[in-house]
Amino acid sequence: MCGIVGYVGDQQALEVVLDGLRRLEYRGYDSAGVSVLGADGLQVERKAGKLANLEKVLSGRDLPGTLGIGHTRWATHGPPTDANAHPHVDCTGKVAVVHNGTIENFELLVAGLQDRGHERRSDTDTEVVAHLVEERYDGDLPATVRSICKDLEGSFVLVISHADEPGLIVAARRNLPLVIGLGDGENFVGSDVTAFIAHTREARAVEQDQVVEVRREGVTVTDLEGAVVEGESYHVDWDTDAAEKGGYEFFMDKEIAEQPEAVRATLGGRLTEGEGLLHLDELSMSVEDVRDIEQVVIIACGSSYHSGLVGKYAIERWCRLPVQVEMASEFRYRDPVVGRRTLVIAISQSGETADTLEALRHARSQRAWVLAVTNTVGSTVSRESDAVLYTRAGPEVAVASTKAVIAQLAAMYVVGLYLAQVRGTRDADEVRAHMQDLQEVPALIEELLTRMEPVRELARSLVDAERVLFLGRHVGFPMALEGALKLKELAYVSAEGFPAGEIKHGPIALIEPGTPVVIIAPRHALQAKLINNIQEVRARGARTIVIATDGDESVTPYADHVILIPDVKSLLAPLLTIVPMQVLSAELARARGLDVDQPRNLAKSVTVE
Ligand code: M6R
Repeated sequence: MCGIVGYVGDQQALEVVLDGLRRLEYRGYDSAGVSVLGADGLQVERKAGKLANLEKVLSGRDLPGTLGIGHTRWATHGPPTDANAHPHVDCTGKVAVVHNGTIENFELLVAGLQDRGHERRSDTDTEVVAHLVEERYDGDLPATVRSICKDLEGSFVLVISHADEPGLIVAARRNLPLVIGLGDGENFVGSDVTAFIAHTREARAVEQDQVVEVRREGVTVTDLEGAVVEGESYHVDWDTDAAEKGGYEFFMDKEIAEQPEAVRATLGGRLTEGEGLLHLDELSMSVEDVRDIEQVVIIACGSSYHSGLVGKYAIERWCRLPVQVEMASEFRYRDPVVGRRTLVIAISQSGETADTLEALRHARSQRAWVLAVTNTVGSTVSRESDAVLYTRAGPEVAVASTKAVIAQLAAMYVVGLYLAQVRGTRDADEVRAHMQDLQEVPALIEELLTRMEPVRELARSLVDAERVLFLGRHVGFPMALEGALKLKELAYVSAEGFPAGEIKHGPIALIEPGTPVVIIAPRHALQAKLINNIQEVRARGARTIVIATDGDESVTPYADHVILIPDVKSLLAPLLTIVPMQVLSAELARARGLDVDQPRNLAKSVTVE
């Protein structure tokens, strides 16, 4: 997501900060900005688009000063415009704030600030922090930031400077990473070590709910009560390339590891405080329009289509509405029956997929309502839809999608619960209870990610496999499709996914002695049937790889390999079953010496039909 750099020292801050931002470009962003504090006070420059746009604006200007902060923004609240770019300033122009994350209670805070006379100049959640500093500052910036952090909900890294304390940067973090760079007569903060690796390789990680005071002479870390926290520094020996990937070999490894945060961000702030009601980001449909919907049609391509299939199970279960899921490339060519009472959900990570875009345009031409589920703020799909739910997974660099897909899955559950709430098919308590189940999932993914070494070992043993089959039932079926797609994309292994019950209607003929078959079998009402299916393929010589729930012994007798996942409600299981399949495919690709991040023939955004 966003990239952050902060610098205090002897050098001219502008160059140091811009250099840090250049190194953070790999994180993906759509606007950039800097502020420098010097003899002329606080000077700020921000620009939509690439860093080159900002550099162009700055080229004729002098921003002297040895303290600076910089930011590359990946839009979440409000489109990527100059006004929404960071740093944000307060009404007096003394406070500069950059931020990564989402402040979930910002609407409440904005309302209070406006009542108290502050002028809001952007659509962002970040700006509230600048105004809160302005209100609460009494000559002690660290204390002010500590007090504000206590009132913020959500996730954040904040880096703040104040013209009245010209040698000080204050930074704070919750749920997102922040690193300190310890130099000689100069110090840094950054989203990761890439931000300052050109200047120092001594770093210290900032822990949850800590506030950092960065001065030229040194760095002090406190908790939210102001108590000093000692910590260890470490030496970074990565090269710059490895640093961009957070030390991982491929961006995909990093993106797989970021999935707990992606799901957290997607779910964050959906329940309105007090009322406990779910809401979507942008919605031009009235409650009456949502209640009048008679059918849902989901259109998407590739992995997004698989997320749509999971959405069908959730929406039908919770809302009792008929749902069709259609590959966007086929949709408009079959003269689909859609109209004013149809809700079309267009799912697209990039928001630019030509097939999905054309399908949604066709749906709108038939007067259907269109809800976009996308990871890209301001994308064409989001602009051309009646409502948008942003998945907020952060930018994905690897061509094959991992964290963006898991975020889509989370988003589809949110859509299902939103429709159930508005249409009254589930009461508020039940909606809240399901949201609570969902909110527990990121921690389960975190735990699951710690158990992946046996899966990698298994992948390496499949290095010569020519064909792999994936089976699942219920929501396990779309995940079988996704597991097969990931394996094809990454490892170029011929792979197919089937509903497990379908196998004996033909695909079972593919099984030869030793054929690897992945069976997605977390605890579920249909499990006895799945166990029969495992036995059927095993009896034909298949090497069975079973994804099952912790503590479930029932599959063990029929499994050559068991991959255990933490227990979770069966409808939500895709959020966990997907993870070992991603790891399996990425590792198999690595074992085959392939480029995990850029598989042959594929593009991240498919903008042609
Ligand atoms: O950007 P979109 O979600 O619309 O992209 C759809 C598909 O092209 C995409 O999911 C594709 O299948 C990926 N390579 C999956 O890893």
